[in-house]
Amino acid sequence: MAAAAWGFMPVRNVARLFVPAMPMVRAEDVHKRYGRLEVLKGLHLEVAAGEVLCIIGTCGSGKSTLLRCINHLERIDGGRLYVDGELMGYREGGDCIYEIRQRDLCRQRAGVGMVFERSNLFPHLTVLENVIEAPVHVKHEPKAAAIEHARALLKRVGLLDRLDAYPGRLSGGQQQRVAIARALAMRPKLMLFDEPTSALDPEVAGEVLSVMRGLAHEGMTMIVATHEMAFVRDVGDEVVFMDGGVIVESGNPRDVLLHPQHERTKAFLQVGASLADGSRSGPC
Ligand SMILES: Nc1ncnc2c1ncn2[C@@H]1O[C@H](COP(=O)(O)OP(=O)(O)O)[C@@H](O)[C@H]1O
Ligand SMILES: [Mg+2]
Repeated sequence: MAAAAWGFMPVRNVARLFVPAMPMVRAEDVHKRYGRLEVLKGLHLEVAAGEVLCIIGTCGSGKSTLLRCINHLERIDGGRLYVDGELMGYREGGDCIYEIRQRDLCRQRAGVGMVFERSNLFPHLTVLENVIEAPVHVKHEPKAAAIEHARALLKRVGLLDRLDAYPGRLSGGQQQRVAIARALAMRPKLMLFDEPTSALDPEVAGEVLSVMRGLAHEGMTMIVATHEMAFVRDVGDEVVFMDGGVIVESGNPRDVLLHPQHERTKAFLQVGASLADGSRSGPC
């Protein structure tokens, strides 16, 4: 910017130039316990808007718990979790945090889409009805607008021809693609994926992964717990390796997958041997 321009810039705008972009997700010293079992032991992470963070790790390392804490399906026992600058599920008061009202939590959760290992579609509703359910009943969108949006989303995931099918008539991969469309129907700013392809055959998993790749390329902020190492390598902006409720190692996926620094990461990656070539290990 030309120096002369500074003189004409309102102070408010000058200040904004120096404010670092707020991360979409920020975890500060997050702890989570189930009874005596401490599952998350003080996690720190940040995900910038438009970034894809992949989480890899052994079974029971806390990946699902972390994702569930991010959209407050689970309460945290310590630390802070922010989504788009807002404390998720809580409000701050002095040194303490207090749970927010259900209505406010619903509003926050509407901004965070989640796709699980199993699609959990409503079996008695058609594909289209599944996708418009939350926009119409939770967000109170007009039905015609919700249908139009749902059709566009179902086209995007390659299922425009199955609008009237019931989930039971779809393959596992098709069901997961509907689950992605259903999550996108709420126009989320963040998408969480918890091993969305673990229950699928490799051929079918590919369809789901390609929809996820498309989403990433369009700039969706995503956190993906997965064992699909080719996806981690090719789509992830960053990968974290979790073990025993802590982040052992994190960094650029190619660096971490090919040159892990920590012994625990090396051991995990060796189990799948030549993971960087695109292998996948089983669900957990
Ligand atoms: N609702 C729960 N109650 C008690 N323990 C749980 C619960 N959910 C998960 N755990 C325990 O927390 C640990 C982490 O689990 P999880 O987050 O599912 O790990 P991952 O997704 O990495 O396999 C495991 O030891 C698991 O048994
Ligand atoms: Mg899990």
